[in-house]
Amino acid sequence: MKPRLPGPRSPRAVVGLASRLNTDARSTLLEMLNTYGPVADFGRGKYHYIYLLSPEANEHILSTAPENFTWRDAFWVLVPVNGETALVVSDGEDHKRRRRIVQPAFHMRRIARYLDVMVDETNLVIDRWAIGSAVDAHSELRLAIRRIVLRCLFGDALRDRDEQLSRHLEVALAYVNRPPMQRLDWNVPGLPYRKAMKARAAVDEIVFAEIKRRRALDDRGDDIISWLIEDQEAGDGLSDQEVRDQIISLIAAGYDTTASAMGWAVAELAREPERAAKIRAEMLDVGADRSLSIEQTSQLVYTNAFVKEVLRLHPPAIWSGRRVVNDFEIHDQTVPGGSMILFSPYVTHHDPQSFPEPARFRPERWIDGDPEQDHPHPYSYIPFGGGNRRCIGFAFATQELVAMTALLATRTDLELVNGGPQRHVGTMSSAPENGTQVQIRRIDDEIAPPIATVESGA
Ligand code: HEM
Repeated sequence: MKPRLPGPRSPRAVVGLASRLNTDARSTLLEMLNTYGPVADFGRGKYHYIYLLSPEANEHILSTAPENFTWRDAFWVLVPVNGETALVVSDGEDHKRRRRIVQPAFHMRRIARYLDVMVDETNLVIDRWAIGSAVDAHSELRLAIRRIVLRCLFGDALRDRDEQLSRHLEVALAYVNRPPMQRLDWNVPGLPYRKAMKARAAVDEIVFAEIKRRRALDDRGDDIISWLIEDQEAGDGLSDQEVRDQIISLIAAGYDTTASAMGWAVAELAREPERAAKIRAEMLDVGADRSLSIEQTSQLVYTNAFVKEVLRLHPPAIWSGRRVVNDFEIHDQTVPGGSMILFSPYVTHHDPQSFPEPARFRPERWIDGDPEQDHPHPYSYIPFGGGNRRCIGFAFATQELVAMTALLATRTDLELVNGGPQRHVGTMSSAPENGTQVQIRRIDDEIAPPIATVESGA
């Protein structure tokens, strides 16, 4: 008989750990690592997982032997809204083919064209803010991020239906983001699943109509949907259903993740004015203020490091899962084929071997040549996963976060209300609890009125 893997044994320990994982998954994962080591067996039935909590395990899963792991069973929760054929729930040859077709839409040179949309939508948010008022920057920027992804996917074609599309999408995505234990996929009147399916049908109607309209045009435009359709006609392309599933899953995968990271970026920016000052100086150096070019973006060394550090300390996806195909050895333990595993960017982003003083926000750790530069294990830092299934939107999201951060730091002074967010909520997007409430102290060169006249609260 194979020896049992480390993990809690007594019913009391199991129940205690399960409830802590539900209420505070982040510190409980670190506690698991300290108590049981990097391989721990925990949970029962559908929620039985082997936790693999080390950079070596990340490397094994993402890079050394990715073919020994499948996705579908780990991401089943996404299927009702994202669709059966979405990249994120595909495996094997189907995944390879779909990824090959979708990938070019995310090449750097195509994404670079979207910088203007990102800058434009960020400036619109800032222009609406009034000096002296308090706003929830997380939710305001989240709306901008939603508009950005819709404009990049559809161009301006669905602009007049933006509100309608967004309303239905929010209902469908809120269902997908529920913890699996709070889901009942029954199509019964009154249940959230039924509402999500109605919303999905409304979204589908709009997306399918747009695919049909585009196909009938000679000039199909220059956005992601047009590139997916063009590939469709090149032979081995995607069917209409596949195009639809990719579109919806791109929105679903990219929207709350980026928005949460941006919510934390604002918090970290406002926590220490020196950080915003460094970004402002850098923007001045490269000659940018309200606008930004791709060349300028790549010259913003500190801003890029700042965004990297936001994704280290506040990774939107704190964990991910796979089904194991065949037994494998790691850390002198055997993980059996057929089991479900979880690995965690959050845990390895807090590994003191790779990141000295891991709880400290310190962008300098990423700057080449800095005396305090860190040299992490390459698979310690995985906010976007890695290997052949690395996040397809990583360059898109990074460009968006850098542009938004640079513009906010340059055009505004923000002061955190009540010390700013302390806790993360959710495990697939890690939003700041209660948003990021800030008071607007300055916009462009105007200065806020004396504090006594400023409205308080959010
Ligand atoms: C800060 C923002 C983002 C973060 C932190 C993030 C994180 C991730 C991670 C960790 C994975 C891999 C999960 C695993 O290996 O189990 C992933 C996959 C994926 N992401 Fe992102 N993501 C972000 C933004 C985006 C954006 C903007 C898009 C698209 C517009 C996107 C689309 C996808 C897709 C389609 C996959 C699946 C790829 C495949 O299966 O081949 N993500 N993302």
